[in-house]
Amino acid sequence: MSSATGGADQVREYKRQAAEFAAEMVQDGMVVGLGTGSTAVFLIEALGRRHREGLRFLAIPTSVATEKLAVSLGIPMTSFAEHERVDLTIDGADEIERGTLNLIKGLGGALLREKIVAAASEKLVIVADDSKLVDHLGEHCLLPVEVTPFGWESTARHLGRLGARISPRRTPAGQFFVSDGGNLILDCNFGAISSPAETERAVRSIVGVVDSGLFTGLASEAVTCGPEGLAHLV
Ligand code: 5RP
Repeated sequence: MSSATGGADQVREYKRQAAEFAAEMVQDGMVVGLGTGSTAVFLIEALGRRHREGLRFLAIPTSVATEKLAVSLGIPMTSFAEHERVDLTIDGADEIERGTLNLIKGLGGALLREKIVAAASEKLVIVADDSKLVDHLGEHCLLPVEVTPFGWESTARHLGRLGARISPRRTPAGQFFVSDGGNLILDCNFGAISSPAETERAVRSIVGVVDSGLFTGLASEAVTCGPEGLAHLV
């Protein structure tokens, strides 16, 4: 049974349990990448508590929202100007492919910063409720692609030639959604993606694409939670 069958409160509880389990992986002296999204909020709150209890670590945030929350909880921040590598990043995901731990991320619009931090990390641990586990990426979820505002229509046509149906992401007020990096997000329906690494390469090779929400070969572990409890996938 997947947590997709549970109510919203139950799903929040699964997210909380997965995030709090992963928060215990942070050790004294680490540089930690802080993810973005509702599951990452539980992580940041747990790390705020651990910081107050005396754990010493420095954090690199993956979005403005994450940075604001972490700073409000007293978590000390650092940046790539001071640190070349991140010891451990803990982040959420929109879909996790069973077996490979390839991911779709970016429903929250933070995919570029999330990928930069993930790529600089010794270890990327994904936290999620177990409804995020899928056999094939793209089955239930659109692939977010971050593109430059200039020429986005042309970039969208090229993406369309790869076989995707494209919709520019908009805010509830109908304006274009703008990422923390000042770019637009095109939500791309590829259907089930049979070769995520190949699709990632093809998407990223298009001029105007800044990056895609396909994360292949980056996650080393996932902590999920559902009706059967916590699972630690390695
Ligand atoms: C933001 C992300 C999030 O990690 C992803 O959308 C999962 O969010 P949530 O924890 O709220 O389900 O990639 O860009």
